Amino acid sequence: MSTIGIDFGTTFSSASWVNPVTGFPEEIKFLNAVDKCKIPSIIYFQPQGKPLVGYAPYMQIENANTAADRDVIHRYAITSIKRKMQKNASFQGHSHVEIISLIIRHVVEEARKVCDFPSPPDTLVLTHPVVFAEWQKNMLREAACRAGFADEKISLLEEPISAALAYVNSNNLSNVEGVLVYDFGGGTFDVAYVKKDARGQWQIPIDPQGDPCCGGDDIDLSIYDKWEERVRQQFHRNLSPNPQEVDDVFLSRCRKQKEMLSLNANQRFTEILPPAKGRNFDQAIWEVRDSEYNDIISPIINRTIAKTKLVVDEIRSKHLPLDIVLLIGGSSRIPLVRQRLEQLLGDVSLIRTTGQVDTAVAVGASYYALNRPTLSPIPEPPIIKRVKFCIKCGNQFKDSDNFCMICGRKRDVL
Ligand SMILES: Nc1ncnc2c1ncn2[C@@H]1O[C@H](COP(=O)(O)OP(=O)(O)OP(=O)(O)O)[C@@H](O)[C@H]1O
Ligand SMILES: [Mg+2]
Repeated sequence: MSTIGIDFGTTFSSASWVNPVTGFPEEIKFLNAVDKCKIPSIIYFQPQGKPLVGYAPYMQIENANTAADRDVIHRYAITSIKRKMQKNASFQGHSHVEIISLIIRHVVEEARKVCDFPSPPDTLVLTHPVVFAEWQKNMLREAACRAGFADEKISLLEEPISAALAYVNSNNLSNVEGVLVYDFGGGTFDVAYVKKDARGQWQIPIDPQGDPCCGGDDIDLSIYDKWEERVRQQFHRNLSPNPQEVDDVFLSRCRKQKEMLSLNANQRFTEILPPAKGRNFDQAIWEVRDSEYNDIISPIINRTIAKTKLVVDEIRSKHLPLDIVLLIGGSSRIPLVRQRLEQLLGDVSLIRTTGQVDTAVAVGASYYALNRPTLSPIPEPPIIKRVKFCIKCGNQFKDSDNFCMICGRKRDVL
């Protein structure tokens, strides 16, 4: 039996395995991926030939220049399927389940090229956002089955809980009792809190929160809209020849600009606009200043802070410990995220990043499969258990309690 952990992401998918040499979970470094670990969640259904998945269609979008290239991409490539998922929908004749299964299958195939699994992976831990409806989880499960995993060998795990598992198991946290995970990715935002109990076991005393439509993709679109506004003013045309459609290639330029703005908030971008009828080489310039960029992205960042505040307020009202706020997910690199979190927490020193910003979710999936203590001095396997508190007096319920033993309030409130 071999296990693989997969973080099926909106923009990128990553994976982990338990290295048989060390016995510990590790992120998988692929041959063809962005920054080694991130396989783009993109498929290009070639009019002839097999679908291309991952890095190859990603590079195709990066390098597209002509109107013909753009048209082909628009018609045959699908990005961010995790955000577009619908029950009975299809793209180029392929159901959404099938599209997801192709991505899962590709990740497993690429993993097998670089990892010496003791046997072909037959057990899968697949992560998902906190706010994923049952039908979406069922779709993921079905996609995993189609990718070759038996239903009983598939486990689903919430993304920020997975990241928490990776963090608490791969760091020495002897003086840490409470960790909040802020996971801001390409399409979704999640926040979760885990707490160490008196026996050193990590628990989830508060329900995680999430926003399924709040991620880097939304920021890219806001930047795209800003360009659209400028282009209309300056050139009296739209970015895309069809104003109803977003030009995927220019959108990917907006993503790059956003990532550059995180490194330096004052930038001057010179872009060749998508070809439009009769005007092929319009060149537009945008000098972005810190304040303008922050104005564009504030509404999106604020949504993540509002969800985080719900969890932080609950931590505080229940007098639970909070020692670390861990930033996970590519979009957590945005400097405004840190600023807003500092304002919310009133304490900069709590905020931490890790070398696993992009892969903690995937690595946690293998810890979940392994279910064993590791580097941290935790006396028992860190099975994360959900505990419930009385909403009236804060007393912790035992599993068997139907009523609060302190104030008598019925348990079903939570
Ligand atoms: N330096 C950076 N500044 C701003 N955004 C960044 C930076 N680096 C990466 N990102 C953004 O992070 C996002 C991808 O993050 P990640 O890989 O964590 O998401 P995902 O797992 O694919 O999505 P999700 O978890 O939401 O389904 C992209 O929108 C990308 O542009
Ligand atoms: Mg993610």
